[in-house]
Amino acid sequence: MDFQTIKYGKENHAAIITINRPDKLNALNATVIKELGSALNLAETDKDVAAVIITGAGEKAFVAGADISELNKLDVITAKDFAERGQMLFNNIEKFKKPVIAAVNGYALGGGSELAWACHIRIASTNAKFGQPEVNLGIIPGYGGTQRLVRLVGRGIATELIITGNQIDAETALRFRLVNKVVEQAQLLSTALQLVESIAERGPFAIRLALQAIDAAVQLPQDEGMKLEAQLFALCCGTADQKEGTSAFLEKRKPVWKGA
Ligand code: COA
Repeated sequence: MDFQTIKYGKENHAAIITINRPDKLNALNATVIKELGSALNLAETDKDVAAVIITGAGEKAFVAGADISELNKLDVITAKDFAERGQMLFNNIEKFKKPVIAAVNGYALGGGSELAWACHIRIASTNAKFGQPEVNLGIIPGYGGTQRLVRLVGRGIATELIITGNQIDAETALRFRLVNKVVEQAQLLSTALQLVESIAERGPFAIRLALQAIDAAVQLPQDEGMKLEAQLFALCCGTADQKEGTSAFLEKRKPVWKGA
């Protein structure tokens, strides 16, 4: 598939989606949003892909936000559609059936931070900067930032970030547990790829159900989450992978997964 604003590549078991508008610091315009959705579909249906890495082209920015030239033209009617389109894409990422890793290689601002918050795991380079600067533009986050950030860091820190628009560096993001790891920029992609290969060695169906159960921990009251966890655990025990994984351990060999 030909893309104008992203690059789609594969390395071993990883699909690598690179947002590719470096002259505009990879700002998210309508085409990027559409193409990201198409690229995710490719990754979802490709059996060789164990996990997805999302990153930005160049050394300066992951994504410097929604495209401000598009924001400038919005009115009350078009803005709702605009926010809902972005929210739908980011919800798809959050609920994606394979792990999605944000490799944050520089500025992740506004929609860029919101994209990172929607990913399952975030790895940042030492030069990464996160922020929700929307109030500088007279707007609030519209791609899920007010909801996901509160759940990720709690109300106080989320409120400070959103109402000041201040940026935080990678070390502060690590202290706030917004990122899993901080590495030198030269090691960012290789660190994400290593993580994908360690995921690729595990049972793929179990990983898919684990993502679903973890998502329930954010969305549901705990008692309901526990019920879902028991159901998904039981579902695992009806799969060939459960027989294979447990047998391989007992027979002291590596499992050969079927993904079912
Ligand atoms: N939307 C559209 N264009 C953007 C953009 C965005 N969110 N962020 C950066 N760009 C463009 C700039 O307009 C500039 O384009 P030009 O060369 O055609 O003038 C180019 O990217 C480079 O950005 P520039 O501002 O010159 O780089 P800088 O190093 O001086 O500053 C930032 C970097 C990230 C601090 C600054 O670009 C910025 O504040 N961007 C907007 C961040 C934002 O508010 N995002 C939230 C949107 S909801």
